[in-house]
Amino acid sequence: MSGEASSGHPWVPKASGIAREAGARLREFFAQGVETEYKGDVDLVTVADRTAEKLIRSRLSEVFPDHGIYGEEGTRDRLEGEFRWYVDPLDGTTNFAHGFPQFCVSMGLEQRPPGLKPEEDGTLVAGVIYDPLRDELFSAEKGKGAFLNGKPIRTSPISTLAESLLATGFPSRKRHASPNIHFYQEFTLRSHGVRRAGSAALDLAYVAAGRLEGFWEFNLNPWDTAAGILLIEEAGGRVTDFKGRHFRIDSQEILASNGDIHEELLALFADMFEGRDLAPLPTPAEWAAEREARAAAKG
Ligand code: IPD
Ligand code: CA
Ligand code: CA
Repeated sequence: MSGEASSGHPWVPKASGIAREAGARLREFFAQGVETEYKGDVDLVTVADRTAEKLIRSRLSEVFPDHGIYGEEGTRDRLEGEFRWYVDPLDGTTNFAHGFPQFCVSMGLEQRPPGLKPEEDGTLVAGVIYDPLRDELFSAEKGKGAFLNGKPIRTSPISTLAESLLATGFPSRKRHASPNIHFYQEFTLRSHGVRRAGSAALDLAYVAAGRLEGFWEFNLNPWDTAAGILLIEEAGGRVTDFKGRHFRIDSQEILASNGDIHEELLALFADMFEGRDLAPLPTPAEWAAEREARAAAKG
């Protein structure tokens, strides 16, 4: 029996249907091509982002009229209630706008018991991430496991960083203010590689599905992470901030892994933040000088 069918709650089945419907709209827009606008100075947005959010907002309001909705494209409905959906209607907009086939719909549900202070976290209880181009639906409900198209998924059993495949992402805004390129370099040198595919929610889903051993990013929002966190935890992995502390829904920094390599990742983060010497690399100038020297030696 699939996780979707065995759940007592309607959250995952309903959200799955909505994510599939929104994903089908994204697939149509992707096939026909859309114009890109700028949201602020560098963030891209398209008619597809807005249309998908409108669709998800209206469908969620039909099936869960009491639930709140917090969407990337501006939806802020009923946030005082017990349940709140974090919605990214199109995660991977830059890919989408360039015709690069890696994007998804992400919907995560937080349960916030009455009396919880606004700054306190509730519990993530359901999450759905849908990749419309591969027709892959990742889903999880708290305590019921994680699934890909209805089949159970687990995080990878690999236990060393050296044997791991990782992923990260870079913000479109304020890249000069982020040190992540240094982490990208260091983790690339110490692992099987670091992918930078442009959809944080899919990266998280891939950690849950055992396709990646780890993922980190410096500047994400709850709509990027809510569904993926629950997927990873339900698939046996671990999600923290860069110091190993409990991940809060509004923590912008996220470190996610299969659990087994988490301590090794945290140790490298600590080394880097403390400025310890790490793996040496030739500078481009040193490398060019060596190339010249080799050519001169050959005559
Ligand atoms: C972005 C993607 C990307 C990540 C960025 C996000 P968007 O979301 O998840 O992988 O690196 O930080 O903002 O804007 O495409 O929804
Ligand atoms: Ca996003
Ligand atoms: Ca988005």
